[in-house]
Amino acid sequence: MNKLQQRFNPQVNQIAVSLIRQFDERVSSIPNILRLTLGEPDFNTPEAVKAAGIEAIEQNFSHYTGMAGLPEVREAACAFIKKKYQLEYDWQTEAIVTVGGTEAISAALLSILEPGDKVLLPSPVYPGYAPVITLANAEMVNMDTSHDGFVLTPELLESTLTGHGEAVKAVVLNYPSNPTGVTYSREEVKALADVLKKYNVFVISDEIYSELIYDGTHTSIAEFIPEQTILINGLSKSHAMTGWRIGFIFAPQELTKEIIKVHQYLVTAASTISQKAAYVALTTSIDEGQKVKQEYKVRRDFVYNKMTEMGFEVAKPSGAFYIFAKIPANKEQDSMAFCVDVAEKVQLAVIPGIAFGQAGEGYIRISYAASSEQLEEAMKRLANYMESTIA
Ligand SMILES: Cc1ncc(COP(=O)(O)O)c(C=O)c1O
Repeated sequence: MNKLQQRFNPQVNQIAVSLIRQFDERVSSIPNILRLTLGEPDFNTPEAVKAAGIEAIEQNFSHYTGMAGLPEVREAACAFIKKKYQLEYDWQTEAIVTVGGTEAISAALLSILEPGDKVLLPSPVYPGYAPVITLANAEMVNMDTSHDGFVLTPELLESTLTGHGEAVKAVVLNYPSNPTGVTYSREEVKALADVLKKYNVFVISDEIYSELIYDGTHTSIAEFIPEQTILINGLSKSHAMTGWRIGFIFAPQELTKEIIKVHQYLVTAASTISQKAAYVALTTSIDEGQKVKQEYKVRRDFVYNKMTEMGFEVAKPSGAFYIFAKIPANKEQDSMAFCVDVAEKVQLAVIPGIAFGQAGEGYIRISYAASSEQLEEAMKRLANYMESTIA
């Protein structure tokens, strides 16, 4: 045993590789497994965006950019936000280009959290926040939305805020939501903002799926409470650019001024080549997301209908590319055991709801960012499983 093992930061011992990745690795050795596990668009990055990346390499854009990112990328990102939400962020002082939404989350949380702070999150929740909160020696407080159609109510938010008092440093929101696909109407967003503005807390709003909304339009919470919001977005999902690693933080300059220090020491700056490609994604290819959206919508309807026919209860998702379904009462209710059994018996991998916290137990998450053929096959396999097993 290596004696240095005991000398790690104990907070690191408390975190683990996400259950999503663990499960995905566990089942990937099953022959002929069909995986609907990862939140990874199955489309390719738009051609014009790829061409911009290639050109950037050829033109030797192989040096660092400024910490906050290329001016033209920040300008284009702010213009996009202005057009969509009429929000005025100064590109010079209020926008940072990050290494994906992931780094934006880390930079935001690590710059505000002190040991003992509490962070409130609606759950089931994307598992990318908790480990960062743990690393900062802070505490996560879940607000269980499973009884309210996966929508955080202003009442629950308010009672949790008052219940935990001064220790609450931040509230994290994520809509459209991973894992549920559920999103918030303008009225619902405003109602949450009305509560939040009474409290001196940061609001970290992860709106990375804002471009993938199938019914209605997306409202950013920053439209109502810009002074306390750290708005996170990025190109991974809208432009099928997960591997390029481009995200954004928008926040008032008093906040970005601090966050940028953490960003600098985490990553210096996002990749220059990726930023050059991002510029095209944000300008000439800005509507690219709209095309894939139509396709995702067809797939959502297909999976939703099939799952409902099979007896799963599903809160109809209006955004992102996930279906979060309740395992029927006559089947195994332990989501991990259920998913392992499905994977072994019919070679279909879907994520156990427990990966998104206790509020997700009894559910499964299906990512429908897969081809129609794969989805058809997946639904056949799942139907076979549902018919052939008894609890
Ligand atoms: C809610 C949410 N936030 C952030 C991310 C990370 O995004 P990125 O790939 O841009 O780091 C994901 C990825 O799945 C996500 O689902």
